[in-house]
Amino acid sequence: MEDLKSQINLVKLPKHIAIIMDGNGRWAKKHGKPRVFGHRNGVQSVREATEAAAELGVEYMTLYAFSTENWGRPVAEVNALMSLLVQTIRKEIATMNKNNIRLQAIGDLEKLPPKSYKALLEGIENTKNNTRMTLVLALNYSAKWEIIRAVKQLAKSSKDGTINPDDITEATFDASLSTKGIPHPELLIRTSGEQRISNFLLWQIAYAELAFLPIYWPEFRKEHLYQAIIDYQNRERRFGKTSDQLTE
Ligand code: IPE
Ligand code: IPE
Ligand code: MG
Repeated sequence: MEDLKSQINLVKLPKHIAIIMDGNGRWAKKHGKPRVFGHRNGVQSVREATEAAAELGVEYMTLYAFSTENWGRPVAEVNALMSLLVQTIRKEIATMNKNNIRLQAIGDLEKLPPKSYKALLEGIENTKNNTRMTLVLALNYSAKWEIIRAVKQLAKSSKDGTINPDDITEATFDASLSTKGIPHPELLIRTSGEQRISNFLLWQIAYAELAFLPIYWPEFRKEHLYQAIIDYQNRERRFGKTSDQLTE
């Protein structure tokens, strides 16, 4: 593992890594257990991913923990996920403070169950002065919801005269998103073998490198993050240009 870690070029580290944590249910099924067992075991993977990223010097990590579409799951599973969220935040605050990690969240947070919302706000408040890495949880998150909300905000500002429609730029749009102030992720990882985005950060991943890992989320360990970063660093990010232009 140290060997893998030493292959990472710390100068070319992505500033922001986003992860779609998928495959908890299938992992549980593989072990003959209920889906919740998979969610509970996924917490260890969250710790590993967070620690590995912070140790390397990644500045932001965003984890897709609950999508707006996930409300459509059986009520018992939704409730289990929401109470797991409360327990995990409460339990991990001390470790986050020890590791100097700041918690933030994106999504339609006020629509979370009051207990989950409260635990989340406490976690954010209690870690707000930490500076090593920002861990962003996407909760009740939908990229389309976020984009529509930004459009409404800009439309209102233009109606009340605080912004001229001609002055709307990528930057003003960025500043209207819930990820305001956070650089766009350069690397997006999804576990479980599924190769789709599932309504995550649509605007922000315009130029992200995508990594689809053939493992279930509860199996994710530090070395998977190292390997994904190494693969990312071996890719040529051309941003529409030719390969020759990049070496000029
Ligand atoms: C990801 O695992 C966790 C959440 C979406 C909350 P899943 O629960 O989607 O597991 P699979 O994809 O059904 O295996
Ligand atoms: C995406 O996983 C959402 C999260 C990881 C929280 P899903 O399991 O909900 O996505 P689909 O249904 O496979 O697209
Ligand atoms: Mg899934």
